[in-house]
Parts: sequence; structure tokens; C-alpha cells
Amino acid sequence: MTIAAPKDNSVAAPLDAAPLGLKVGIPKEVFAGEQRVAATPETAKKLQKLGFEVLVETQAGAGASFTDSAYEAAGCTVVADAISLWEAADVVLKVRSPQHHPALDRHEATLLKPEQTLVSFIWPAQNPELLTQLADQGGTVLAMDSVPRISRAQKLDALSSMANIGGYRAVIEAASHFGRCFTGQITAAGKMPPAKVMVIGVGVAGLAAIGAAKSLGAIVKAFDTRLVVKEQVQSLGAEFLELHFEEDGSGEGGYAKVMSPAFIAAEMALFAQQAKDVDIIITTALIPGKPAPLLITQEMVESMKPGSVVVDLAAEQGGNCEVTEPGQVITHNGVTIIGLTDLPSRMASQASQLYGNNLVHLLSDLGGAENFTVNMEDQVIRATTVIHNGQVTWPPPKVEAPAPSVSPTSPTSPTAEEIPAAKSWFSQLLWPVLIGLACVAIGLWAPASFMTHLTVFVLASFLGWKVIWDVSPSLHTPLMSVTNAISGIIIIGGMLQISNNIASPMTILGAIALFLGTVNIAGGFMVSQRMLNMFHK
Ligand code: NAI
Repeated sequence: MTIAAPKDNSVAAPLDAAPLGLKVGIPKEVFAGEQRVAATPETAKKLQKLGFEVLVETQAGAGASFTDSAYEAAGCTVVADAISLWEAADVVLKVRSPQHHPALDRHEATLLKPEQTLVSFIWPAQNPELLTQLADQGGTVLAMDSVPRISRAQKLDALSSMANIGGYRAVIEAASHFGRCFTGQITAAGKMPPAKVMVIGVGVAGLAAIGAAKSLGAIVKAFDTRLVVKEQVQSLGAEFLELHFEEDGSGEGGYAKVMSPAFIAAEMALFAQQAKDVDIIITTALIPGKPAPLLITQEMVESMKPGSVVVDLAAEQGGNCEVTEPGQVITHNGVTIIGLTDLPSRMASQASQLYGNNLVHLLSDLGGAENFTVNMEDQVIRATTVIHNGQVTWPPPKVEAPAPSVSPTSPTSPTAEEIPAAKSWFSQLLWPVLIGLACVAIGLWAPASFMTHLTVFVLASFLGWKVIWDVSPSLHTPLMSVTNAISGIIIIGGMLQISNNIASPMTILGAIALFLGTVNIAGGFMVSQRMLNMFHK
């Protein structure tokens, strides 16, 4: 269905004739060069499953290769202009923060109505004036850049989904400006050495860049101030460059903290050395709310081999490279410096799909069309909501880390010194003495062969207990698969005890041992297989 624009643009046509649920509106992005769209035909279907009616401004998906007819086929209503769409929608989903609308010659923020909810990237710290302007309109605004980076909110984490695409695209851009193959080859025509790539900053974008560069066959090295990423880098097959410096960059919420001048100087010395060796540098070093640290100087760029490439993913925040010009691709001394700030938009179809999915999850968490509520009691929704019914609610209150749980026994129970000495030595000696007496009694009465078996049994139980108990619980599953070896010994023992006499207790016990050992081995293999499958793409 297509709805025509009203003749007079200033008066919106009433579109709420259809007696369906809440309406979600997807306007066409107005930021110059922005190709993404907040819903694809596929995510629009998911929104409809949540009970929403979906209105899409005509040509909204054109930049991402989604035609109006594709949206119509997905059950959406195509609306002829932005004013009609904003007027009709209860919830407006956007990618870029509200901007001046060139065709309407008015700011998109002025289209927000009271009772309406806008979900978009807002960057409230960088755009305080926009926040006030939106609040004056009286609506509710949720900022996708304010979704907390916690496990529960991962499915809403648009920063990560866009950074992932940005990191991948950075490698593709580098490859297209680099005059050689990434992979090394030996051909009849000659030897081609592999490209050497250095990634600085191993957040979401950095990890995606490492993965993409490795899959193209390059030799990849990476550096980050947060030492926790070392294993992630190595698991992707890259080398982690380490500074032997007593300072770790891990700050609040898993983000990086500002490093000391001495650390920055030391890492810059490392980069100066690496710049002469590597062919491509991809920098993604950022600290939330701060300008990007300057890590690659003009001198370092000039020391790189001609034909080398630097991709500065921090260009929008000032750049990690001194020579970067945000939004531009320039050449300096034979080295290409890519400062593009629209990398996710250059993969608009994929980026829109992932962003659209993040929005579907958010709208589902808001209760869908039927129970739509901006629940300020919910930690994730509270942090994401920057304006609630015309009131600025950003920044959200800090969520206090749960106080370390105090062991109920620790403050009240007596200390070791307070325990009566007599009680402690009595309880410590009681059990060994009782067990010793029981062993003497059994030794006097039982046959010699029984004592041999009992000794082996006690030693095996003790060893088994020590082996299992001293292993951290996180390693119990791999341990289970290792115990297959022990189960193998049990199976052999069981088989040796089985005889023709089916009714004999030894045969029955042997059969039970055989059965349980087999179950343990089969189970161990199944668990190991499932664990391995978790790492398969
Ligand atoms: P980001 O874009 O803010 O920063 C990129 C990287 O630059 C970070 O790894 C940071 O350590 C590094 N960096 C900063 N200063 C540097 C310097 N001077 N030299 C070298 N490297 C420097 O990071 P992003 O990708 O937004 O995420 C950072 C972290 O946030 C993740 O690694 C993770 O710990 C956390 N996170 C958690 C999520 C969750 O759901 N639990 C989801 C996404 C991220």
C-alpha cells in the first residue's frame, strides 16, 4: 500500500485510519551520504510480528538496495514524505541523530511530537543542544549509543554491530588502496611476500579487522593497552605486541582508561619501530568521551614504505594519526591515509540488517506493540532513555556494583584463635583414629586378597577425589572428557570379571562397571563434541 503526500506539506494527512496496533515509522536518512536505513524488509516483518504496523518513507531503503516494492511485499505501508511519516508514527526509528532536513528546510527534531518515541543514535555527550531541543518537543528519546555494554544488552548493542562492520570494511578499504596481495604466494612468475598488518586498539572494530586481515592471508600484529585482549588476539592467529610496562589500560565497564604519558611514549616508540616494517596500519584506539589518543605521528607515516596504507577508524573523534583528514582519503609521502567516517554506511545493506535487528530486540524489550512501555525501572532501558516525556534523563545514575557478598559465617563465627584448642585437636584426631581402628579390625578378620583390593580402592578413591576437587569448576567439563581414560581402565577390569556364570555377583558387578564406563566414555565424547561445535562458525 502507498500513501500519497498531502497536498499541503505543513498539514499532515491522517494516516491512523487503519485500526491496527502502534505504528512504527522509518524515515529516509537525511545526513549527506548516509546509505543505511533503520529497518529492512526482513526486520520490518519482525516488527510486524511484535504487533507494530510499519510505515516506511518512500526511497528510505534505496541506499541500502531495498526498494519500496520490497517493503510493500513485506507488509509495510510506503509513505510519500517525511512529515506524513513523523505525523502518523507512534515510534520513529532512525540511524543518524536528528539533523537539519534539507528538503523540508527544518530540523528533524521539530517533527518529534509529545507522546511519540524516537529511537536513534543521539550521542548525548557530544550533542547537548540537540538533547535540549528534543526535550522541548515533549517526547521520549532512546539513544542506541547509550545502550549499556553488559551481557544482557548485547542483542541491542548497535555500537558493537556497527564497529564490527567498520573493522571489516577498514581492511577492505586498505586492500583496495594497497598495490599488493594480502596473502603470500610462490608462483612461476615470482615470490609474493604476505602483507604485514598492524592493528592498534583491539575493541570490537579491531577484532573484526584482525579477523578480516587474517582471512585474506596477511601477517597480523596487534596492540592494545588492555592486556585482557591478548588471548583474543592470539586466538585469531595474530601476534600480540606487548610492552613490558607495569600499567594495564582496563578501565570502568571493560573500556580503556587514559594512559600515563610514559606509557603513551613507550607505545609510540613501539609503533615508530613497527611503522618501518608493516605495510598497513589500522588504528581504532578510543577512550569513551575523550578525544582519540594521537599515536601515529607524521614522522612515523613518513618512515613507512611507499604504497603503505593507514586506516584511521578514530578519524571522527580527532584521529589516531597526525596526518588524517576526517572523511577524506589522502596520500602523504606515498602513503595512503584513509580517514573515512562512514565505513558502516559503505556496507549499508548488511549494516541496516544488523542495526534493524538491534532495534527489533529493543522494541521487543519495550513490550512490543501490545505492552509498549518505556520502563525506567529496567536497568538497560533506563540507561538507553535520554529523554523521558520531555525530561532529560541523561546521564543515567551510576549502577553501583553489587557489594561483595559477605560470607554469613565470617563476621559472627569465632576466629581460629577463639576455637577452644581442646575441641580442635579432638575433632582433628577423631576421624583418623576411628578409620585406623576400623582398618586394624578388618585386617584381623578379612582374607589377605580382600585387604589388597581394599587398599587399591582406598588409594583410587583418594586420588580421584584429589584430582576432581582441586580442579576449578570451569574446567570440570574438559576434565570429564579426560576421565575417559579412567573409564577405559574400568571397562577392562569389568570385562576381566565377567564369566559364563551369569548369576555370580562378580559377573553382575563386572557388567555394571562395563555399562557405566561405556556411558561415561560416550557422554565424555558427546560433551567434548558439543564444546568444539561452540567454536565452529
Ligand atoms: P572502543 O572503540 O572504545 O576502543 C577501541 C580500543 O582501543 C579498546 O580496545 C581500547 O582498549 C583501545 N585503546 C584505547 N587507548 C589506546 C591506546 N592508547 N593504545 C592502544 N589501544 C588503545 O572500544 P569498543 O570496541 O567499543 O569496546 C571496548 C570494550 O568494551 C570491549 O573490548 C569489551 O570489553 C567492552 N564491550 C562489552 C560488551 C558486552 O556486551 N559485554 C559489548 C561490547 C564491548
